[in-house]
Amino acid sequence: MNKIGSQVTIAMDGPAGSGKSTVARRIAEKLGLLYLDSGAMYRAITLLAIHRGLAADSPELINQVKTCHIEFTDNGKKILLNDKDVTVEIRTPPVNRLVADVAKIPEIRSQIVKHQQRIGAEGSIVAEGRDLTTIVFPDADFKFYLDASVRERAKRRLAELRKQNVDTTLESVEAEIQERDEKDITRAHSPLRTAEDAIIVDTTNKTIDEVVDFIIAQVGKQEIGL
Ligand code: C5P
Repeated sequence: MNKIGSQVTIAMDGPAGSGKSTVARRIAEKLGLLYLDSGAMYRAITLLAIHRGLAADSPELINQVKTCHIEFTDNGKKILLNDKDVTVEIRTPPVNRLVADVAKIPEIRSQIVKHQQRIGAEGSIVAEGRDLTTIVFPDADFKFYLDASVRERAKRRLAELRKQNVDTTLESVEAEIQERDEKDITRAHSPLRTAEDAIIVDTTNKTIDEVVDFIIAQVGKQEIGL
């Protein structure tokens, strides 16, 4: 049993670097909920396309998505693609550059969304991505939209990349983020947008702990026992 009580779905959306992965993971740990990193699934499919030399919009890739096996272990910390741990490889620059092109293909999205909804049906969950509050879990109990300035988001991504010894500049990370934002916001299917009933959280000048505490307080306001 999680710390909230009955089955609950907390959904979060926002652009790259808004802090939602770190925040969602911490909330899942604190409340004893399952963590679902939906972006990791699109990243895994992108890696599959790169490994097999398939174009993002090729029918072969759509077929591969139908038969491939994506699994999370360690409460969402690790992702396995066809039983291989791809947790680190899905965060590399080649995947960053291609993922938005893969994620805009409707047939790929529909497969991934079904998979996410199956995971959500199994129990209480904190799920984050671009369309979790709008398409995947439109009836989520709690919805949040996390945002931050492009510069701040680029700084956060740069720090992550430096930890992985990736040699890059703030300008190039910022350009990559802006390009991905543009693709995610303007695509025809399930674009990134703020759900009408989502609480907007600007994380620009907030620490991770402040955002986590704010969200848990919002959840607690409506739940007895927190
Ligand atoms: O969240 P993350 O930055 O890892 O997501 C990588 C990419 O996957 C996004 O830029 C977006 O193109 C795609 N994505 C999506 N829908 C989601 C989650 C991620 O289209 N729910």
